[in-house]
Amino acid sequence: MAAAPSSLSSSCTNVRHFSPLPPYSSPHSSLLRLRHRHHPVPRHNATCSLALSSSFLPKLRDTILLQQTQIKCNTNANLLVTNFASNPEQLKKAKEDIKELIQKTHCNPILIRLGWHDAGTYDKNIEEWPTRGGANGSLRYDIELNHKANAGLEKALSLVTPIKEKYPDVTWADFFQLASATAIEEAGGPKIPMRYGRVQTVGPEGCPPEGNLPDAGPPAPAEHLRNVFYRMGLSDKDIVALSGAHTLGRSRPERSGWGKPETKYTKDGPGAPGGQSWTVQWLKFDNSYFMDIKTKRDEDLLVLPTDAVLFDDPGFKVYAEKYAEDQAAFFKDYAESHAKLSELGAKFDPPEGFSIDEPQQPAKQPVPEKFVAAKYSSDESSQKELSDSMKSKIRAEYLAFGGSPDQPLKTNYFLNIMIVIGALAVLTSLFMNKDSYGQWGF
Ligand code: HEM
Repeated sequence: MAAAPSSLSSSCTNVRHFSPLPPYSSPHSSLLRLRHRHHPVPRHNATCSLALSSSFLPKLRDTILLQQTQIKCNTNANLLVTNFASNPEQLKKAKEDIKELIQKTHCNPILIRLGWHDAGTYDKNIEEWPTRGGANGSLRYDIELNHKANAGLEKALSLVTPIKEKYPDVTWADFFQLASATAIEEAGGPKIPMRYGRVQTVGPEGCPPEGNLPDAGPPAPAEHLRNVFYRMGLSDKDIVALSGAHTLGRSRPERSGWGKPETKYTKDGPGAPGGQSWTVQWLKFDNSYFMDIKTKRDEDLLVLPTDAVLFDDPGFKVYAEKYAEDQAAFFKDYAESHAKLSELGAKFDPPEGFSIDEPQQPAKQPVPEKFVAAKYSSDESSQKELSDSMKSKIRAEYLAFGGSPDQPLKTNYFLNIMIVIGALAVLTSLFMNKDSYGQWGF
């Protein structure tokens, strides 16, 4: 492990690395923030922020930890040194706050739509960031929010903004995707293998042009879906799996122009009543979207032309049929496709991103006990209670002989008879030989 910087090492111990170094070219890496975890300070507070000139950084590289490094100080306060786009600790706390918001307001569906609409503008044919669109947080700007496809998403933004404001070191790009993935998980959906560290756009000029998101009722739905999703670099399987997100939520005529004003499933909420849902339990993530479209039996459930085509087009149908049959297959594919969607067009810092999930601990294996002779010594002072594993070893040995430590060996009559016969045979042969060897034959 690298040595801590001299300015810090005098009082600090226990340095923990999180991941490899990000490049210095990153706009975020020229600022090394030192922050007291227990006493967070605003980003611009000069007493706790250390700005390092970019020429100084390379020299520093060899001697100090220029990566996400947690330094535990012997003063018992934690300093967090980070040059990631987002702060992992703040992301974790923001996730908890999002869960609480969801439990209170049942806003899962609109949070998922928010994340999807930020990412779904991506154009793989454009290399330059952020012109290429995608998960960069640009949807927070009015110019993009006012795109027709985003009608209603200002509500989602106003719901989550108070949480975002609590966590200034989380980028909007990460925050939208965190909210969406958390909403899926909280609705009972699969765990999404998320990466974080998305850099955010810094002004409305980073917003994509209007028209990159799909229409619900185009003249040729299958062709339209492929045009839009292939432009994002996604596949037929991704199109079908991701459409399964409509297992949650409703469509409102006053927003998108699609759906009934209300149905028996939406008239009482939860959340703001009204709209038309795709499924009966529209706050539960499951495969009912595929089952309901397949049967098309309930007039109160919505089927958009782009939903119906999933069972008409042969390339889509294989997946739609499979997901209607097999929820586990849907969950698996959905989680993969959602993770892909959440990274479209994103620029990560560090470049490989990072996870906020706790690493899985390997199951603990019992450690075989070493034999210590003193334990079994007759010297009372060194005798100790036997461990369970040693007791079971001893028990096994007793059992091999047909007994057990609690029960003495049973009398073996056959063995006793054999011993008596043997003894008689020896005595008989001694007596028979008496004449040839004198009185006792010796
Ligand atoms: C396949 C092309 C898609 C089309 C044409 C489409 C269209 C729509 C429309 C018209 C609405 C109703 C919006 C409103 O009136 O408030 C909607 C809602 C929704 N969409 Fe999509 N969508 C598509 C793909 C997706 C994807 C990929 C996701 C997520 C991965 C998604 C998630 C949602 C959710 C959760 C809602 C419900 C929002 C709420 O209840 O407020 N959609 N979609």
